[in-house]
Amino acid sequence: MKHIYSIREAKKSDNLHVQRFIELVDHDFYPPLSQRGGGIPERVRRCLDTPEANYLIARLNEKDLSDLPGGIIGMIGCTKNWKDESSAYVNFLAVHQEYRINGVGKALNRELELLLGKQGFNRIYLCTWSSNPAAMNFYEKLGYSAYSVVLNHRGKGVDTIYYKKKI
Ligand SMILES: CC(C)(COP(=O)(O)OP(=O)(O)OC[C@H]1O[C@@H](n2cnc3c(N)ncnc32)[C@H](O)[C@@H]1OP(=O)(O)O)[C@@H](O)C(=O)NCCC(=O)NCCS
Repeated sequence: MKHIYSIREAKKSDNLHVQRFIELVDHDFYPPLSQRGGGIPERVRRCLDTPEANYLIARLNEKDLSDLPGGIIGMIGCTKNWKDESSAYVNFLAVHQEYRINGVGKALNRELELLLGKQGFNRIYLCTWSSNPAAMNFYEKLGYSAYSVVLNHRGKGVDTIYYKKKI
């Protein structure tokens, strides 16, 4: 990959860039994140740099070369103490479409696993939807196993699929 990027935890001061990045990928989600709960601002308020949740952001090192907000090319969000105090939940994952299939998603997931492992977590949960074969393939390649399916949960013929992984 010709672009050089680094991954770090987000800070409160990244708020606007984080919101803008989610807006850019909003329609890759079904339903779009802007149409869920309190929308994107509420999601970011709950998930950005709190004791229970945060994002890891992949940023281009030469961010001035990009029009992307804050040079962000990908982001993973996680909520801790999900089912119990040893588990966490991936509440967001996206890579900007121009940077996909280059290992950025995999690198974000690896960093998250390392961080959570150091903090004593041993299981990660997440979900996706059945009309998203890219994500299903991605998670299965990374060692996640599907353990539950809710049929038609996201509309006629679109199921929610729950995954977990031991780290
Ligand atoms: C899912 C997503 C995050 C993957 O990110 P990415 O940076 O393109 O993925 P990577 O390049 O790290 O790929 C890791 C593995 O997943 C596989 N994979 C990724 N995208 C894939 C696709 N579209 N089809 C098939 N396999 C795919 C890769 O082949 C790769 O396997 P490898 O390690 O054997 O080479 C990205 O497609 C995305 O942002 N999608 C839109 C948002 C979304 O669906 N998020 C998940 C919601 S639950």
